[in-house]
Amino acid sequence: MIVPTQTVRLGDRSYDVVFDALSGLGAALAERRRLGPCVIVTNDVVGPLYAEAAAASLRAAGFTPSTLTLPDGEANKTLAVWSGLVEALLARRVDRHTPIIALGGGVTGDVVGFAAASALRGLPLVQVPTTLLAMVDSSVGGKTGVNAKEGKNLIGAFYQPVLVYAAMDTLATLPDDELRCGLGEVVKHGVIDSEALLSGLERDGASLLARDPVATARAVAECVRVKAAIVSQDEREEGLRAILNLGHTLGHAVERCLGYGAIRHGEAVGIGIVAEARLAELRGEADGAFRARITTLLRALGLPVDCPSLSAAELVAATGMDKKRAYGTLRVAYPIECGRVRLDAVTPEELHEAALVISAREEDR
Ligand code: NAD
Ligand code: GLY
Repeated sequence: MIVPTQTVRLGDRSYDVVFDALSGLGAALAERRRLGPCVIVTNDVVGPLYAEAAAASLRAAGFTPSTLTLPDGEANKTLAVWSGLVEALLARRVDRHTPIIALGGGVTGDVVGFAAASALRGLPLVQVPTTLLAMVDSSVGGKTGVNAKEGKNLIGAFYQPVLVYAAMDTLATLPDDELRCGLGEVVKHGVIDSEALLSGLERDGASLLARDPVATARAVAECVRVKAAIVSQDEREEGLRAILNLGHTLGHAVERCLGYGAIRHGEAVGIGIVAEARLAELRGEADGAFRARITTLLRALGLPVDCPSLSAAELVAATGMDKKRAYGTLRVAYPIECGRVRLDAVTPEELHEAALVISAREEDR
């Protein structure tokens, strides 16, 4: 299936999102940047699989690529890895025209993006996502950064890439668990966008799990359409973009409580959406049928819908440093119905009540 190129529209910083095989990366970049040195930054899982193919494509197009390799995993999304990368880029004598190519999943994209934002005050960043999650979400929109001990993604920058090149054929080697995790973010986009997208996911669930290329390409393209439209209207999350944080307030709390890397991000987002749907119910803004529908879909996609090893109190405490806090209140995105997400201040008591649906009750622990 040929997926048309999409564009994130941000004036003179607009950029394309191209969906194609990894072998076309060099040609796509050559259409947009002048030839010269470039640096592929990957990790020690993706590198052995794809760094040479990426380099070969870039060489064939006339670039001179070199490669840097980071340690894999969320536990390495740290300031230490970021600073080591910035220094390694400087040691390679990059200049402001040297494309930095982030080849990997969301962790790679976030760390490399932040390094590209900061080395020499900004190097051209190319996101080459190789996980479903990174294709549908993290590679698009310019959020970059690392985790802090106080919370997830608390250190970083908005820094848009010059190109996103979704290397669709790399999904062939993505482990099943990682594929499912990407589906958590796909469900998020379905809930945010429309009945058509959510019911399409309900229809295509089995095909997505079976890696059907047509269903996968359709889901990726739809999610990028949703995200690109939102980012084009609100690049720096001054309003509308905050709806993309659906599932993240309690999802990040789950990740923080369990320890970064102990649960996959997309899994945690799915659990967070269930709790935030419960919040909507508690406020009388949604009925239980909508939460039941989301829960059924997540289960059908093989995703968890609760975290019984945690208590609601722990989860609420873990939201204390959530960066979505503004002016001293905790603003939470929660789903009212398909295509309608509300962003509003909530009290810790409300959040606790909502979190009970995904956690162990204190008295049961
Ligand atoms: P990840 O980057 O850790 O990738 C998951 C695993 O799959 C890793 O072990 C990785 O090396 C491996 N892998 C990647 N591509 C592969 C392939 N093609 N074949 C085989 N193995 C492959 O995790 P992720 O789920 O891609 O991303 C999660 C991260 O993204 C989190 O840190 C989250 O905070 C971040 N995120 C950022 C944004 C944003 O807007 N910047 C949005 C959503 C999520
Ligand atoms: N993943 C949330 C955002 O990009 O805004």
